[in-house]
Amino acid sequence: MSKQSQWKTSTGFILASAGSAIGLGAMWKFPYMAGIYGGGAFLLMFLIFTIFIGLPLLIMEFTIGKLGRTYTTAIFGKLSNKKWTNVIGWSGNLAVFVLFGFYSVVGGWIMIYIAQVAMQIIGLRDGTLGSIQFEQVISSPLYTMLGQGSFILVTMVIVMLGVEHGLEKASKVMMPLLFIFLLLIVVRSLSLEGASEGVRFLLEPRMEELSMEGILFALGQSFFALSLGTTGMITYASYAPKEMTIKTSALSIVIMNIIVALLAGLAIFPAINAFGYKPEEGPGLLFKVLPHVFEKMSFGPGFYFIFLILFLFAALTSSISLLELNVSNFTKNDNRKRGKVALIGSILVFIISIPATLSFSTLSHVHFLAGTIFDNMDFLVSNILMPLGALATTLFVGQLLKKEDLKSVFGNDRLKIFMPWYYLVKYVLPVVILLVFVIQFFN
Ligand code: PFF
Repeated sequence: MSKQSQWKTSTGFILASAGSAIGLGAMWKFPYMAGIYGGGAFLLMFLIFTIFIGLPLLIMEFTIGKLGRTYTTAIFGKLSNKKWTNVIGWSGNLAVFVLFGFYSVVGGWIMIYIAQVAMQIIGLRDGTLGSIQFEQVISSPLYTMLGQGSFILVTMVIVMLGVEHGLEKASKVMMPLLFIFLLLIVVRSLSLEGASEGVRFLLEPRMEELSMEGILFALGQSFFALSLGTTGMITYASYAPKEMTIKTSALSIVIMNIIVALLAGLAIFPAINAFGYKPEEGPGLLFKVLPHVFEKMSFGPGFYFIFLILFLFAALTSSISLLELNVSNFTKNDNRKRGKVALIGSILVFIISIPATLSFSTLSHVHFLAGTIFDNMDFLVSNILMPLGALATTLFVGQLLKKEDLKSVFGNDRLKIFMPWYYLVKYVLPVVILLVFVIQFFN
């Protein structure tokens, strides 16, 4: 990734950024958050935030990347001639680092599930799919550390080899397949007993169930799911070819992300009742419910195995962007140092991910502020660093960059969307994000 214009085509760039966006956020985190914070009301807030805040912020990050074309701990200084603004890049780098730490925990769970289902298929494991116990999986320090270690390792090897182009090709097959599989699960879930109740839970906005906390988490979720406020999307846009169109790219990523989140919700909630679960199951929701749904299908284990591989792929295309940001910053886009930086970064991520993994076993009794160590790492990133990063970036764009420079990267889109976008970013979004952020601390 040392050369600029890394993605050869606009489609390549969209696929890579969609890969970064669509991952555990839409498929794992969205359903469990919606389950805790009132279903339909949470969904509604998530949609509003994604469309009115997430989309303009994504356009903003693409604009900076396209304009600055360098790594994110230098791009802010380069564009504004004020070196101190690079602190936004450093803060994003920190966010991504912590994020990778707890992201790899969940990536590790997928690895363990894949191993279990594979063992069942080849006859090394007795019992049905539904007998895979989530609590048992996450309570083994050894297995979970092995799982997350292998997740980090795979990410590292891909980033080291710089084979993201191969991934671009793979994405063209894997992403549509993921959609198809999600649809398949939705269809099966909808035919289960008590499904309509689950659908109503997800789609009916019962505003009385929405708490201030729910609103804050919905905002955090929309940042998380679109990879915003970490400068991750700035990095990818800085590699984009000149002809990349900002509006089309951002819009398609937002739409795909919403569809995946909705499909994941529709796959899970209709099935909850039939198997005796509750919406507020927490981080284990998807892992608990889906094995039962697949058990009810013919060729269940085989299909579940393929689904898990696709799910892993979606998580990996996000974790790659997390490590890539570090590599880009610490090598200053010098390819010769790529391997070394990827290795050191991965080892450090593994070390900080250990307490996160142990939050579900040995350290489960450790509770403070937002909950367990895992919860606190998530809260620090999604509810503090991401909104602050986004706020700082809106101020940067609105106050320090020239309108004409910004306009120059909008191409043909400048006529229709530039002005509304610019005023939103300059005057409205900083106030809104600040407000939500401040309310959080009085809450
Ligand atoms: N958007 C990713 C997901 O939803 O899984 C997570 C993420 C990736 C956040 C990259 C931030 C980032 F820079």
